[in-house]
Amino acid sequence: MQLKNKITLPCGAVLDNRLAKSAMSENLSPKNHRPNKKIVTLYNQWVKGGAGLIITGNIMIDGSAIAEPGNILVEDKSSFDMLQKWADLGKSTHTHLWPQINHPGRQAIGFLNKEVVAPSAIKTQIKGMSRMFKEPRALNDEEIIAIIERFGNTAAILKEAGFTGVQIHGAHGYLISQFLSPLTNHRTDQWGGSLDNRMRFVLEIYRNIRSKVGSGFPIGIKINSADFQRGGFSENESRAVAKLLAEEGIDLIEVSGGTYEAPSMTGFQAKQSTLEREAYFMEYVEKIRKEIKAPLMLTGGFRTISKMEEALQQNKLDVIGLARPFAIYPDLPHLIFNNQIEKIEIAAPKTGLKFIDQSGFVDIKWYEMQIHRLAKNKAVDLGLNGYAVMYHNIKETVKKLLRLHA
Ligand SMILES: Cc1cc2nc3c(=O)[nH]c(=O)nc-3n(C[C@H](O)[C@H](O)[C@H](O)COP(=O)(O)O)c2cc1C
Repeated sequence: MQLKNKITLPCGAVLDNRLAKSAMSENLSPKNHRPNKKIVTLYNQWVKGGAGLIITGNIMIDGSAIAEPGNILVEDKSSFDMLQKWADLGKSTHTHLWPQINHPGRQAIGFLNKEVVAPSAIKTQIKGMSRMFKEPRALNDEEIIAIIERFGNTAAILKEAGFTGVQIHGAHGYLISQFLSPLTNHRTDQWGGSLDNRMRFVLEIYRNIRSKVGSGFPIGIKINSADFQRGGFSENESRAVAKLLAEEGIDLIEVSGGTYEAPSMTGFQAKQSTLEREAYFMEYVEKIRKEIKAPLMLTGGFRTISKMEEALQQNKLDVIGLARPFAIYPDLPHLIFNNQIEKIEIAAPKTGLKFIDQSGFVDIKWYEMQIHRLAKNKAVDLGLNGYAVMYHNIKETVKKLLRLHA
């Protein structure tokens, strides 16, 4: 079975097999944005599940830029003990455990932040949800350099805590993605305009992290194959970014796509033929495979074990990324390696209200609720319906608002 094969990354680190849990925001730290016991309970199940690589949900690098209410923040060494406990889980099972590090830029929930910053003052527009977002302020040169430093500092703290790699979140419409996209980056200085200028931010972040963690420590990135928005970051531009980062020595490029304005990452706007083929961004990966020196991981839609095997056998990619299936089967790799599962079938929960169902919000929150059950050592609840998800989220949002204004 190809899925069982080890892989050596450019930095020399070895992943024990080709299955990776892709990032899923845990939203488990509503009070202080610090890691807690629930995180440890949750990851204890994931690291024991047999994956070669577990990537955490996105971790903030700046306390003044929080994307979601329960995000974890690592900007200094507070809660270092808990970070160490979290990182130790990976060591106990020889599973690579990489935090995903992120700055949300304009894609941050408004009431959580005094102000929101972005490459340019262009607001996030999500149908029915634009009130959740603030008009951002354009960053100045000094602030951009400070954010680059923050990515490097957070990575160095995480390395010291014992994590075995980091992943830069360069996808899904967050700050790095905002710099890359001509729709959200209207700058005329060295950070905007030509593609070379728009990709300077991500390049400098990679270089800053590398200078702080050294050559033997894995650094990965999640990038969009495209934004899937007219006039946005295109496939050809993405290809150039992947090529550049591979030449710089990045260890793993995870391919995804979309933003919260156009949520292609979870397949919501995918054609039936794409859904049946499963891997939403496979065509892009096939196009770039030959010219990209770095190992490639593809995430989004994989559900049938034989299709994962085939993709590896045909050398289309190196690592299979799975997110939602891990929220239901925390020990999924063991099930796969022991031939106990052929296809992961999970019905997407719906409310019947078109604009809500099409936003992908209920789907994401349904999986988040399953993750929260795992974090309390409870079994997943496949019977949870779309309305229960909506009700739970309205209740939680009101609680958070009351706490903020108390
Ligand atoms: C609850 C939930 C939270 C997510 N949080 C993140 C995140 O923090 N960072 C990220 O890069 N992607 C995040 N994603 C997207 C997944 O990593 C993945 O790209 C997407 O779900 C498609 O993969 P899948 O079809 O295997 O689920 C999240 C998805 C879900 C369902």
